[in-house]
Amino acid sequence: MISGERVRLRAIERSDLPHFAAWLNDPEVAAGLMVFRPLSLVNEEQWFAEAMKRPLEEQPLMIEIAHGDAWIPAGNCGFHQINWRSRSAEVGIFIGEKSYWNQGYGSDAMRLLLKYGFDVLNLHRIGLEVFENNLRAVRSYEKVGFVVEGRKRQAHFQDGHYWDIIIMSILQPEWQNARTS
Ligand SMILES: CC(C)(COP(=O)(O)OP(=O)(O)OC[C@H]1O[C@@H](n2cnc3c(N)ncnc32)[C@H](O)[C@@H]1OP(=O)(O)O)[C@@H](O)C(=O)NCCC(=O)NCCS
Repeated sequence: MISGERVRLRAIERSDLPHFAAWLNDPEVAAGLMVFRPLSLVNEEQWFAEAMKRPLEEQPLMIEIAHGDAWIPAGNCGFHQINWRSRSAEVGIFIGEKSYWNQGYGSDAMRLLLKYGFDVLNLHRIGLEVFENNLRAVRSYEKVGFVVEGRKRQAHFQDGHYWDIIIMSILQPEWQNARTS
């Protein structure tokens, strides 16, 4: 368990998969992700089986949000493409429960993931890619200290238009400075 005050990250269980099927079939959630068609529970089971074959540090984590004494499953985050020689990794995140959007939970979950990545895994660079039309996501990443380092021009086709993919990252010293300042 990776614990924060309002948010915690835990391992995903097979019994969580119905949540994923519901979240990823929501067009507003899927719009920010690499999800372009309806997904069945069987699709989710296949995704889970593949995810469990990945190194432990790259296995996705469930985001849970504190609600009174209970913890409510709300989304997913995790590292991928970890390179141990360069100490770099990519992150992905989504809050599938839309009623929790715009309340700082996504930023809190990302802060927990960054703390784990820098303080436990000893990463040096954590990067991500985000569609330019996903303004909420860009804002939440800026809030936790990610900076724009480039863009892939017109690399993403959605809703009949080409959009840039924005490349963002945060380095360990930047994270350290943000924490102590
Ligand atoms: C992206 C996501 C994880 C962010 O989580 P969240 O809990 O909604 O984010 P936060 O509340 O921490 O931050 C959102 C910020 O964006 C702002 N925002 C919302 N809509 C916005 C818009 N249209 N333009 C600019 N800023 C916007 C919010 O006001 C907030 O900023 P503030 O705290 O300064 O007011 C979540 O919305 C999500 O999962 N979306 C669907 C899937 C997705 O897009 N995942 C990311 C793929 S790269």
